[in-house]
Amino acid sequence: MNPDRQYLTLRRPDDWHLHLRDGAMLETVLPFTVERFCRAMVMPNLEVPVTSPDLAEDYRRRIIAAVPGGAQFTPLMTCYLTDDTRPEVMVEAYRNGIFAAAKLYPANVTTGAQAGVTDMACIAKLLEAMEEADMPLLVHGEVADPDVDPFDREAVFIDRVLAPLRRSHPGLRVVFEHVTTEDAVAFVAESNGRTAATITPHHLVINRGAMFAGGFRPHFYCLPVAKRERHRKALRQAATSGEGSFFLGTDSAPHPDRAKFSASGCAGIFNAPVALEVYAQVFEEEGALDRLEDFASVFGPRFYGIKANQDTVTLERAPWQVPAQVAAADGDVLTPFMAGGTVNWR
Ligand code: NCD
Ligand code: ZN
Repeated sequence: MNPDRQYLTLRRPDDWHLHLRDGAMLETVLPFTVERFCRAMVMPNLEVPVTSPDLAEDYRRRIIAAVPGGAQFTPLMTCYLTDDTRPEVMVEAYRNGIFAAAKLYPANVTTGAQAGVTDMACIAKLLEAMEEADMPLLVHGEVADPDVDPFDREAVFIDRVLAPLRRSHPGLRVVFEHVTTEDAVAFVAESNGRTAATITPHHLVINRGAMFAGGFRPHFYCLPVAKRERHRKALRQAATSGEGSFFLGTDSAPHPDRAKFSASGCAGIFNAPVALEVYAQVFEEEGALDRLEDFASVFGPRFYGIKANQDTVTLERAPWQVPAQVAAADGDVLTPFMAGGTVNWR
């Protein structure tokens, strides 16, 4: 790193949790990720969820066709688990390199989770097969139980689902996606090396107050929902700790403004245009810029057992104003995270 800290060159990072959508939306959002990241773990919660190897291969082809000319980008495909996922089919597709991991959405827990798993008992055989094949399990770590307060759903998930899963499948590689609580941070930190977590840029920047600042602000609504300030502090501490079980996953989840503003507004924050820059800003604020590369580019590949990227990306410390809107290819409009605000790195 340059001593005056005006430039920061990192191994090219990967995004270990990303929603790319499909069609016109895919074309709109993909270039932002491709400019910054080399690979991305692509979430399978499309309108028709990616539940089979064929659907994953088709989706991969559509993503690659949408990569701007000449750019290098590798989508890593995930299998959307349902009560009926067949272990042998999925594990074979993992061994063949079609799937990089499987994604567990408890049924109805978030956008596109209607076909998710209704009961962990339904996937007992599957989990055994995954542990045996060393196929990573990515979890949306919230319970969908409407009787549980929305701000407690992650902590309750740890007690009801994740802790028992860790005990019954100690060898399974598990990524606790987009953690939002000090409880999740502590759980991961105390687990063996088979448990990791991704941390989003937005959960490092906002607490739940952001949703209610001067009126309801749907662009700060995502799932898991942002929590109290003490949780945000714990996330910043974990991300910048240099601890290898916490790594970058943006959870960039674009929805057009019309879907964000509807009577039942969609959860999801579109951060791809600013994600890497915001992480840099947070690490700088925490006096930990020298740890950004590990978090963004090294710990993820290490956990997944693949090589870190060899090429680099250079960030410049030069404040810029985030556009208020991004126009989508089909005439829709998206509002990015930090819209109209200033980010110190580009
Ligand atoms: C995601 C989406 O819109 O697909 N939304 C979100 O708030 N993060 C789904 C998810 O990851 O929960
Ligand atoms: Zn997500």
